[in-house]
Amino acid sequence: MLNFRGKNFLKETDFDQNEIETLIDFAEKLKMKEKHNIPQKFMNGKNIALIFEKQSTRTRAAFTVAANKLGATVEYLNRNDIQFGGKESVEDTAKVLGSMFDGIAFRGSEQSTVEALGEHADIPVWNALTDEWHPTQMLADFLTIQEHFGTYKGKTVTFVGDGRNNVAHSLLVTGAILGINIHIVAPETLQPELSVQKTVKEIQEKSGGTSLITSDVEKGIEDSDVIYTDVWCSMGEEEQLAERYNLLRQYQVNQEMIDLTKKPNTIFLHCLPAIHDTNTNVGQLAYEKFGEVGLEVTDEVFRAEYSKVFEQAENRMHSIKSLLAATCGEVF
Ligand code: CP
Ligand code: NVA
Repeated sequence: MLNFRGKNFLKETDFDQNEIETLIDFAEKLKMKEKHNIPQKFMNGKNIALIFEKQSTRTRAAFTVAANKLGATVEYLNRNDIQFGGKESVEDTAKVLGSMFDGIAFRGSEQSTVEALGEHADIPVWNALTDEWHPTQMLADFLTIQEHFGTYKGKTVTFVGDGRNNVAHSLLVTGAILGINIHIVAPETLQPELSVQKTVKEIQEKSGGTSLITSDVEKGIEDSDVIYTDVWCSMGEEEQLAERYNLLRQYQVNQEMIDLTKKPNTIFLHCLPAIHDTNTNVGQLAYEKFGEVGLEVTDEVFRAEYSKVFEQAENRMHSIKSLLAATCGEVF
């Protein structure tokens, strides 16, 4: 019997293969129960805090709705509204919030902040994205792949673009834990950190997973069941747009790239938000500067029938519900 109670989820390696698979399967069950209006009040009377230093649509919404559906209440604490980091250390904040709340989600730049919250809060702490990892995103991504193909086992999941960002690192590590085949297709200067590559190799020795890290688009794309990309400039990197555009323009996910998989049923995933047209400030800027409509993905691919990005976004809520219920609720 697995015991999730009280556990932190600060990075993917906090859970082993069995635990991650269980959370994904549990998310699928909860999603089905919800569609049949079966009550899921595993967190009745509990309270969770969301400390967010960076912007968020999906993650904040997913934590809030998931907690409410489980019977918990949520307090959103923007860094500007609380003493955190100003007059109060992470350790002191963790102790105070830990004495009042039943769980804390944190989104911000520094992994060390979420680790310190996890060390001192004495209640489950969940990483809602740092510059290093985006673990809750992974649960939704592999749930989406499982729903679509029936399984993620034996599949090749290929990330194209900024291969050293949080989502690429998380995908590479999660793929290794789950024992599947992960490709990272990125220019040499944007490939995963060597420390992450080393961790991945160690995990793969046990799990049997494989990976390919390459700058060669044709080689990296062939045989992919899933093509996944993310923004070229993560939050806080917006100034680097021109530099990233020059590095990554050949790595845009377009129909020609999808055809290189040589597979008839490849799906497209993106954690979102996505720059796929000119209906955003960044999309408009890209058009003015480079004459490009869409950056990391074309509008055609984004809106294609094989694009599962909105199913993936909805799955953020179901999978975060699974994580909250397992670590902080009365389930197992
Ligand atoms: N994918 C994701 O984390 O989206 P948000 O930044 O909107 O939360
Ligand atoms: N890599 C992106 C992910 C957003 C969900 C960022 O950190 O901004």
